[in-house]
Amino acid sequence: MSQTHLLDSVPRRQVNFNLDSPELAETYDRVGVRQFNHGKQLIADLDPQPGEQVLDIGSGTGLLGAYVAEKVSPNGRVFGIDPLPHRVDIAARKGQPNFEVHVGRAEDLSQFASNSFDVVYLNSVFHWVEDKPKALAEIFRVLKPGGRLGLNSGDAERPHQSATLLRDAADAAGIPADKQPHGRQLGAVSNAQLQALIDAAGFSDYRGGTRTIVDTVPHAQDLLEWSRSSSFGNSLGKFDPSEETRFRGALQTKLEAYRKPEGILLERYLIFITARKPRAS
Ligand SMILES: C[S@@+](CC[C@H](N)C(=O)[O-])C[C@H]1O[C@@H](n2cnc3c(N)ncnc32)[C@H](O)[C@@H]1O
Repeated sequence: MSQTHLLDSVPRRQVNFNLDSPELAETYDRVGVRQFNHGKQLIADLDPQPGEQVLDIGSGTGLLGAYVAEKVSPNGRVFGIDPLPHRVDIAARKGQPNFEVHVGRAEDLSQFASNSFDVVYLNSVFHWVEDKPKALAEIFRVLKPGGRLGLNSGDAERPHQSATLLRDAADAAGIPADKQPHGRQLGAVSNAQLQALIDAAGFSDYRGGTRTIVDTVPHAQDLLEWSRSSSFGNSLGKFDPSEETRFRGALQTKLEAYRKPEGILLERYLIFITARKPRAS
């Protein structure tokens, strides 16, 4: 596929930020440990150093931002932005003195000066970003020459096992079509689309590929809480109580097929990339 064709085929996912609630945000702060764990891989790739200025885009409840703030202390700072005020509130309460959070979106970084960050990262955020070229242009602007970008994204060619299971369970439970989960992440990109986007934005030193993350799922309720809170209400429709009971039962039955001696294990697939803003640009 040509570069133009790849760029033209990049999805624009419309997201409703008004479906979040204080309860979903608190739940995410508890169960978002999955994103925190793979986020640590992204941070290892970027290797932030003491004294560096870091921007965490889509910082959620601040689990990873607080971790990175410790790495760059005492003189470095992490700025987090997220469109969801309930999550920004929780992140602000993390109490890390060099971690500052604001409401904001990847597509508009006008609150930050050009050439101001050593590192910009998005952990489990890029598939949610509606206008990906605009976000990358903004990231390029705020990075210092030589600054590093790291992100991970759902892989359009490999839906998570949980996404397929949620859709199959909804079918088995007779959930009406308009409330069914999609079975894939709607804004996810392929490796080729992501590389085309990063190249078109002017970055160099592209390194990327899909990684498999294995999660232990204690029971269906845990997977439902994770899915609803990670998508701030966007991935599953509102079920009535009897639909919810049927759905949870069908999901638990399907999950049992994945039980191993260590527990129920599900694979997720994420594209991880790093790139740089060229020194002379
Ligand atoms: C699965 S959470 C990940 C949160 C955090 N990065 C972590 O590792 O725990 C996805 C986050 O992306 C944020 N998000 C969605 N669209 C965004 C956009 N256009 N710009 C910035 N953040 C966005 C959501 O508000 C949500 O907090």
